[in-house]
Amino acid sequence: MDRTFLMIKPDGVQRGLVGEIIARFEQKGLKMVAGKFETLPEDRVMEHYAEHTEKPFFAGLKAYITSGPCFLMVWEGKDIVSITRQMIGATNPAEAAPGTIRGDYAMEIGMNVIHGSDSDETAAREIGIHFAPEEITSYTRID
Ligand code: CMP
Repeated sequence: MDRTFLMIKPDGVQRGLVGEIIARFEQKGLKMVAGKFETLPEDRVMEHYAEHTEKPFFAGLKAYITSGPCFLMVWEGKDIVSITRQMIGATNPAEAAPGTIRGDYAMEIGMNVIHGSDSDETAAREIGIHFAPEEITSYTRID
């Protein structure tokens, strides 16, 4: 089954959006198979955002993403990367369509509530960075 890594960022946790965001994906028919709160250590931030470490916004991104707990998740479902990217909306909330998570809940690119893997390869890499295999459960979802 296809998998993706989703992470509700500190602004989403602090604003009490965890339940609302999980509900959207559950109602769509996707299945959460792992979830945990964690304040990301610096080494994991560097690994997760390796492609951004030289960008001018990286210092701000690192300070923000380590400012409090994130809610880290693994989800399963057919074509899940594409489906969750559509449900999350554009990286810049100003460009995210109404009805998407960022379109409905975010205003700034630097505080955009949630991260979602952008390809199957990235999903496998990001799941491996944040979860041990034994943390990922397995059950049948009845729709
Ligand atoms: P995310 O989907 O987690 O992937 C990379 C993150 O970098 C992105 O969401 C934003 O939070 C952040 N980001 C990307 N571009 C900018 C920018 N121009 N200014 C600040 N943050 C950015």
